Amino acid sequence: EKYNYGVVGLGVMGRNLLYNIADNGFSVAGFDLDEEKVIELKNGVAEGTKVIGSVSLEEFVIGLDIPRKIILMVPAGKPVDAVLESITPFLTPKDVVIDAGNSYFKDTERRIADLTSKNLHFMGMGVSGGEQGARRGPSIMPGGDLEAFNLVKPMLEVISAKINGEPCTAYMGKGAAGNYVKMVHNGIEYAIMQLISEAYDLLRKGANLNNGQLYEVFKKWNKGEMNSFLIEITRDIFKQKDDLTDGFLVDQILDKAGAKGTGKWTSEQAMEIGVSIPTIDIAVTSRILSAYKEERVQASQLYTKDEVGTTENTELFIKEVGDALYLATLISYAQGLALLVKASEEYQFETPLKDVVKIWRGGCIIRSVLLEKFYSAYTENPNLTNILLNKEISEIVKSKIKPLRNTASFAVSNGIPSLGIQTALGYFDAYTTESLPVNLLQAQRDYFGAHTYQRVDREGVFHAFWNNGNN
Ligand code: 6PG
Repeated sequence: EKYNYGVVGLGVMGRNLLYNIADNGFSVAGFDLDEEKVIELKNGVAEGTKVIGSVSLEEFVIGLDIPRKIILMVPAGKPVDAVLESITPFLTPKDVVIDAGNSYFKDTERRIADLTSKNLHFMGMGVSGGEQGARRGPSIMPGGDLEAFNLVKPMLEVISAKINGEPCTAYMGKGAAGNYVKMVHNGIEYAIMQLISEAYDLLRKGANLNNGQLYEVFKKWNKGEMNSFLIEITRDIFKQKDDLTDGFLVDQILDKAGAKGTGKWTSEQAMEIGVSIPTIDIAVTSRILSAYKEERVQASQLYTKDEVGTTENTELFIKEVGDALYLATLISYAQGLALLVKASEEYQFETPLKDVVKIWRGGCIIRSVLLEKFYSAYTENPNLTNILLNKEISEIVKSKIKPLRNTASFAVSNGIPSLGIQTALGYFDAYTTESLPVNLLQAQRDYFGAHTYQRVDREGVFHAFWNNGNN
């Protein structure tokens, strides 16, 4: 008897996704070159589920139902190409290969073209939710060939997270749309993480909160409108004791960030297709800056800072930092979603934004109750270019803008680094300004380079004779 699905790559994520599929009544075969991982897979099989593991690629492929449905859970980049190269000789026309890693969307486009020429289907599919998500219900962002998508859709719907009984998976569009949406998800993830870290810094420096108090603040935040996965895990981080000392673990962790590239790709993409996403950009560059630990230590000695003035009204301060974090987070989502709108046109993805926010409500790292409001906004107008233009969202924004300004001012006047908060506010101010001083910039461009300008009062393109020709 043949197996319904195949999973290639049995690391923690691969294994967990495989078990999740098996829990839902499908038989699943797993493959990994590493025999240890195959043994580990077999040891963890739940009773009543049908799972097999193999170290032979040929045996694995032959054991699958036709058309085969094979999910790749291997690291992005060369490993995906290596698997494709070794597996395609065993495949037969119409088989479907699904790459569920954080692959770069242009790699996916290339692979689609390559496999299509061999009469095979290739799909890029974003999966978010970490190890637990993969096991219990992730948010799944598939895209590409509709025929292939329809073959796997029922399975994706049962294994994904659910919100109000609705699956957190939907078709994200043509081509490499699945990977693109996941990439933007990660860009937003970077921004929110940056903002939460800044809020933490403000609370510990500006209000002298200790970890126990921070735990309480995040606990409270997570109960209301700020409820989200990232706020929830942050709450729990503050109560984690350290095994090696008698303090808290968070205080022993070196302040140097790592990154695997998806945030950087999001920024590069935004620059490439001309979308302004400064809070995501700043989150990427802040991780880079954090890595200059030694230089920062040197510079901090050269430029000693005045003692941070602590707030006089702790309760109000905490409330305002919370509102600032909420609004800056909203603005970060707005930037990421605006990038998706433009990318959908640029690459003809036809990504349904309404479904993007719908399936991000559960299972993924950036899930939050705020997404419910975005879902209503896109339900009302599926073609919304920027979430900030929605009436209901604008009411939220207006109610939090003062706290965001106050928090940003506090950070600036006390020298507390707050690139994310400042940038979210700066984006908002620029986006909501009718007349920017760019008239002057255009004049400069025309002055030194005859780059021309447009006028406010008439159509056409103009060039002026600046400074009587002495330029
Ligand atoms: C998810 C995460 C996941 C992974 C990121 C982290 O949605 O489950 O985004 O994909 O944790 O790749 O990326 P960095 O290592 O770049 O922070």
